[in-house]
Amino acid sequence: MNNLPLDGCAIVIFGASGDLTKRKLLPALSNLHARRLLPEHFAVLGIGRTKLSDEEFRSRAMDHDSGADETFRRTIFYRQLDTRNVDAYGDLAERLASLDESHGTRGNYLFYLSTPPSAFETIVRGIAKAGLHEESDERSWRRLVVEKPFGYDLASAEELEKQLHKAFSERQIYRIDHYLGKETVQNMLVLRFGNGIFEPLWNRNYVQHVEITAAESIGVEDRGGYYERSGALRDMFQNHLLHVAGMIAMEPPASFNAASVRNETMKVFESLRPLSVDDVRANVIRGQYVSSTIGGRYVPGYREEKGVAPDSRTETYVAARFYIDNWRWSDVPFLVRTGKRLPTRVTEAVIHFKQAPHRLFAYGASARRDGDECGCNQLIMRIQPDEGILINFNMKLPGGGFEMKTVSMDFHYSDLSDLYTPEAYERLLIDAVVGDATLFTRHDAVEACWRFVDPILNAWREEPDIPLHGYPAGSWGPEAARTLLQSHVPDWRRPCRNLAENGEFCDL
Ligand code: BG6
Repeated sequence: MNNLPLDGCAIVIFGASGDLTKRKLLPALSNLHARRLLPEHFAVLGIGRTKLSDEEFRSRAMDHDSGADETFRRTIFYRQLDTRNVDAYGDLAERLASLDESHGTRGNYLFYLSTPPSAFETIVRGIAKAGLHEESDERSWRRLVVEKPFGYDLASAEELEKQLHKAFSERQIYRIDHYLGKETVQNMLVLRFGNGIFEPLWNRNYVQHVEITAAESIGVEDRGGYYERSGALRDMFQNHLLHVAGMIAMEPPASFNAASVRNETMKVFESLRPLSVDDVRANVIRGQYVSSTIGGRYVPGYREEKGVAPDSRTETYVAARFYIDNWRWSDVPFLVRTGKRLPTRVTEAVIHFKQAPHRLFAYGASARRDGDECGCNQLIMRIQPDEGILINFNMKLPGGGFEMKTVSMDFHYSDLSDLYTPEAYERLLIDAVVGDATLFTRHDAVEACWRFVDPILNAWREEPDIPLHGYPAGSWGPEAARTLLQSHVPDWRRPCRNLAENGEFCDL
């Protein structure tokens, strides 16, 4: 994490009474404060429509057992504001000016939009009307942090960008994809470019396919209303998973700075092979969980969830095979899936290497990895939980003859017990405060990802014969997803294989 000396600043959170502030933002700030990574002169100003005193806000927004110390609590303030009224933002300017006086925040403001996207435009207009977006002198800064969703499709994303750019320049805008804040996702860059042994193999000559899984055991919980308009493709695939693919596929940047790193991921997104309607039929599988009974407990189907239409066609699972048309990856399939109500919560990326050119050894009778005819090496980057890196390779089965067995080398982050692993929001918040945009999404990348995803959304909307497969809650998704696999791969990886085979489920 950056250890730069910092000027004072104020973080202004719009949508302060929301879940994100309580669950992620304030705990992240509290941890940063405890680790002395925040500027000495610092304040948080929560903005909401409800009338609350500072103390009431502190009690509501921070759990008593959050461990936040009193000095941190005293840096948190609240202001009631009708954010829909662009004339009301003068009040905000006054409050911020008084924080500059009392807390030394020096006119440096980080505006954090943690509201539904429908509110973004008005808030940005209000900020601009009060002149709060302008960096008055060379030493002060104004930045805007935006939470996804960045639009609903390409056209709405372009419209959103137009609105944001009316007040803020691209240099001032920090778009959060919290996956980029995860240590294990960042570590993909260090694994690739901080070692000499992987990069020579990291291409179409040695890689058979790349498999990325983001499985969740929970359903949509109380977010049915949001999810109905989103679905797995928009919620996870268009942003988080394409960015993980971007980290795996990018070329080495010229240097490690925001412009170089983001230029390289952008080149990956520009190289995504566009999908025709027929390609969508053959390469993208969608599913929706239906009710089932797990361990004697009834688990409702998606259509029974609160806020969900009884005839909803929103997908809660998506699996896709796509290609990156460039020299490094030409014709290497990227197999990516995500879903709710799968058997466990696990996110991982797997590089499946090609088979050795000439096969000299056979597997011992009991030593073959289940169903795996190829015995191919795998590099497994476990993003969460049990963060780590695993390499599967073959060795001689002890005893007579020359039979093989697949074994693993397994690194767990938990082995680094003396090191603190920050939460994604800690990393992203401090980066926004120090002005490091490397782990934030640039607008051209957002649009390139939508350009790739839009044809899938259009095909699903316009071609009613493209099936929406039901899958029982607690299963690994629709059987049809297997059609995306290479002929020699028997199945998608089962990160929880042993438990699932015993009829147990990891989390549900
Ligand atoms: C969010 C999605 O962006 O990511 C959620 O809106 C999803 O639906 C969440 O549950 C997953 O994040 P994580 O960090 O738990 O993998």
